[in-house]
Amino acid sequence: MTESQKSIHNRIEEKFNLIDQNHEVHLEGLIWAKPMNYWDYIMPDALLNLQVQRTTLPDEMVFIMYHQINELLFKMILWEIDQVSNSPKIEAAFFTEKLRRISRYFDMLSTSFDIMGDGMEMDQYMKFRNTLTPASGFQSAQYRLIEFSSTELINLIDYRFRSTIDRNTPYDYAFEHLYWQAAGKDHTTGKKNTMIQLFEKRYKDEFLLKMENYNTSNLWTKFKQLPDDIKTDSELVKAMRHYDYTVNVNWVMAHYNAAGKYLGKAEATGGSDWRKYMHPKYQRRIFFPELWSKEELEHWGENV
Ligand code: HEM
Repeated sequence: MTESQKSIHNRIEEKFNLIDQNHEVHLEGLIWAKPMNYWDYIMPDALLNLQVQRTTLPDEMVFIMYHQINELLFKMILWEIDQVSNSPKIEAAFFTEKLRRISRYFDMLSTSFDIMGDGMEMDQYMKFRNTLTPASGFQSAQYRLIEFSSTELINLIDYRFRSTIDRNTPYDYAFEHLYWQAAGKDHTTGKKNTMIQLFEKRYKDEFLLKMENYNTSNLWTKFKQLPDDIKTDSELVKAMRHYDYTVNVNWVMAHYNAAGKYLGKAEATGGSDWRKYMHPKYQRRIFFPELWSKEELEHWGENV
């Protein structure tokens, strides 16, 4: 054995000693291991079997696949956010790098949304959408997790109820007053539309846990905990503002414009008063409010 082979052998032995395993058994197992192939590792066969149409209209396939692409990118975004959330000590460069990655993924979503707006035939969309009622992209759980992990809950609460919420408010009460409840909840009677009822039946328990977990580890709280010299780092602040804007204005407007093209004055499959509900100037969802000037906040989502 060469010196280099001996060194590798010793390191393997040490590794398995640490977990009380005989390294020779593991090495022997390698003799029978299959060589790796692209299809074993990336699993295109499984991935490409997940597109199942409910109608005969070909553009429904575009609709399904683009939603799935969104979900994959949402997963990449959450993956990066969680690295920041789980880091005990954060340097400005690490935070900035992660925010840039997250933003790049979201920028991909904002700039590709014309796949929906221009990429499907209106006539086909108007037919297949009816078979999807009452489902809606609104029911994307990962989208909600991105919100919980990006900012403090107060910034996700419906403006009308913010003064009734503070750090001691039970999570369940906060949940009932999240801005997105306005898509289908009548706050005077408490009645919710079917789209929200089904969504909550499926995910509410998980959301309450995540709300609690991210309460102290969301991006905004993590940022505020940084030392002053890091918090004022111009590249970091720029990256934070970029992320806030791309998620809460650029993506929202790309989505709003696509919805406007197909729905016109029609009702959404999910059933919301969507024109009012979805526009950033009404919704005013802002992850990092203190990084914007008074004037920028007042005119949020206008002139876009
Ligand atoms: C032609 C394509 C699309 C149309 C017409 C459309 C329409 C709508 C409408 C009307 C709503 C409001 C809730 C409702 O009543 O349904 C909504 C919400 C939503 N949609 Fe879409 N959508 C489209 C594509 C997408 C895509 C590709 C995604 C990516 C996953 C998506 C994700 C969402 C999300 C996350 C919400 C909730 C937004 C919020 O609460 O502010 N949508 N959509």
